Amino acid sequence: MHPRNPRLDRLADFPFRRLARLLAGLAPPAEVVPIDLSIGEPQHAPPPLLAETLAAHAHLWNRYPPPQGTPEFRAACAAWLERRYRLPPGSVDPEQQVLPLAGTKEGLFLVAQLVVDAESASRPPLVAMPDPLYAVYYGAAVVAGAEPLCLPATAASGFLPDLDALDRDQLDRLALFYLCSPANPQGAVADRDYLARLYRLAREHDFLVAVDECYAEIYDGLAPPGALEVVRAIDPEWRNLLVFHSLSKRSNAAGLRSGFVAGDARVMRRFLELRAYAAAVQPLPVLAAATRLWQDEAHVEANRRLYRRKFDVAEEVLGGRLGFYRPPGGFFLWLGVGDGEAFARRAWRDAGVKLLPGGYLSPGVGKHAPGAGHVRAALVHGEEVVREALGRLAALAT
Ligand SMILES: Cc1ncc(COP(=O)(O)O)c(C=O)c1O
Repeated sequence: MHPRNPRLDRLADFPFRRLARLLAGLAPPAEVVPIDLSIGEPQHAPPPLLAETLAAHAHLWNRYPPPQGTPEFRAACAAWLERRYRLPPGSVDPEQQVLPLAGTKEGLFLVAQLVVDAESASRPPLVAMPDPLYAVYYGAAVVAGAEPLCLPATAASGFLPDLDALDRDQLDRLALFYLCSPANPQGAVADRDYLARLYRLAREHDFLVAVDECYAEIYDGLAPPGALEVVRAIDPEWRNLLVFHSLSKRSNAAGLRSGFVAGDARVMRRFLELRAYAAAVQPLPVLAAATRLWQDEAHVEANRRLYRRKFDVAEEVLGGRLGFYRPPGGFFLWLGVGDGEAFARRAWRDAGVKLLPGGYLSPGVGKHAPGAGHVRAALVHGEEVVREALGRLAALAT
């Protein structure tokens, strides 16, 4: 038997497989220790609170957990949203408006399966997404039977999708709009006006806005605004809006696989039904640890300071070279290098630094991908390793 779902044929290879092919046969210089900046996996230590809380709840590993998580977990997420986004206490209902996720990846995939009705429309519904992007948006749209609408997010549009570029026909066909703020890879932050405009379009044309805010806690200057706080002034029930949050970057806990989704209660009800079939439930010790992490800010502030220091280093070492700019959010450098693939090969062969060609963040598009002239560098290692890696890249640029 062959697995036959033809929708899967439309999935492009994940960026890291493409990178492995690009670098196959190239060896980094023998005299340097190779440094991998291609993957956005935080290397800072998670707070001790994580292991302590897991251990304290070890007696719960034998229990099947409920798909909606625990009341304590949902309450901690709701309270965090209210603190972080200065929402009135009690405005997020933990019973109706919050659900746990096994990482935001799960939720970002499932949300397309919730809102795309591929059968009843004469043409496939559209799912809009920034381009370059986190590949799961694209995969989720394709598997749901929608047509991905990749909206270039380049320097010309402030590294966010240009909302004015959408025509009425597209807006009417939209089932879902993924936005990432702070954005991976460019670090751009959607301001209040942008979020309000997108939301108004969603209400007018009745599509769902899914805002991926998994980098919301890693920022340089002011805390990025969130969609919930902006939309609350327009609709306190957050109809047509979901936001996605994660502990992977905030708490350096990518292996915990823990995030949550919050927003429109009508959509959340369906989400819970789908999760009961399709999602990995979160073990009770994991939920207990996640609850504690959302209640604690000290480790998040310390983490943010570490990233700011590394952006200081990046500015010092790379400033004025390789199209360097200091992003307002996230932990990536998005470097304009002319030809991302050629530069990634050179960086590996001549400097032992692994970078991701920006074009690989545009599934299904070749040389003309909006990010093809860039490389992405994840500043996830310690400060000294980052300094060393960026120093080697600076030497390549001179
Ligand atoms: C933009 C973006 N969204 C979502 C995720 C998924 O994160 P997680 O599933 O660990 O919460 C990532 C991970 O790298 C990401 O970069």
